[in-house]
Amino acid sequence: MRMIFIGPPGAGKGTQAARLVERFKIPHISTGDMFRAAVKAGTALGQQADEHMKGGRLVPDELTIAMLLERVAEPDARDGFMLDGFPRTVPQAEALDAALGKAGLKLDVVLVLEVPDDLIVERIVGRRSDPDTGRIYHLTFDPPPADIVDRLVHRKDDTEEACRTRLATYHGQTAPIIPFYEAQGLVRKVNGVGSADDVTARISAATLTALSARRQG
Ligand code: AP5
Ligand code: MG
Repeated sequence: MRMIFIGPPGAGKGTQAARLVERFKIPHISTGDMFRAAVKAGTALGQQADEHMKGGRLVPDELTIAMLLERVAEPDARDGFMLDGFPRTVPQAEALDAALGKAGLKLDVVLVLEVPDDLIVERIVGRRSDPDTGRIYHLTFDPPPADIVDRLVHRKDDTEEACRTRLATYHGQTAPIIPFYEAQGLVRKVNGVGSADDVTARISAATLTALSARRQG
């Protein structure tokens, strides 16, 4: 199964992807996580990406596309993947389509997680991540156990100011890829408001419907 997760910052892509990859036994590929790992490792790519990420702007397409295409060509992604945070621009979507087409492969579903802007800032500012396990928490909505609170990380781009730039970037540069995939009949829109369990149930239902529609078509 080849899936893409699209949604504004803080929509719950990482939270939901972590649940779904266990179920579908596919790797979770998050370009944001890959860039953060490169920043932490201090690589040349990480240094370039950090400048853009801190302010909430996109990393340039040429860097992002090269990194992602290399990752999806790895053996664990041969039979499927869940992309979280890629593509984010029309050129990225076109590059992915071209690479898959060349390999004779197709996407199965593009999930668009919808959450209104006015709920996003609260989700982002209260987010904390566990650097040891990768688990995402929220100080109010999904509180971490007391014994790990001290090691949790608050992302550099999780300030209110960077969050507003990320939202504007989403609406200006990423939302236009939705019609690109609608034209291919791949898009399923899912309401991302409610408990994480409710959202998981909606996503599972939407994914199964998309898969059965593709098998029939
Ligand atoms: P990236 O890491 O992809 O960040 P993002 O898209 O802004 O999304 P987030 O990770 O902030 O949110 P999420 O949807 O995963 O939400 P989460 O599950 O954590 O990208 C970061 C940066 O990297 C970009 O700005 C850019 O600079 C660069 N980059 C990455 N990919 C790129 C690309 N393709 N091209 C160019 N640049 C790129 O949830 C958020 C919070 O809400 C958590 O605290 C969680 O506990 C809570 N929560 C989750 N679900 C619920 C719920 N149902 N109810 C209440 N709270 C909830
Ligand atoms: Mg994320």
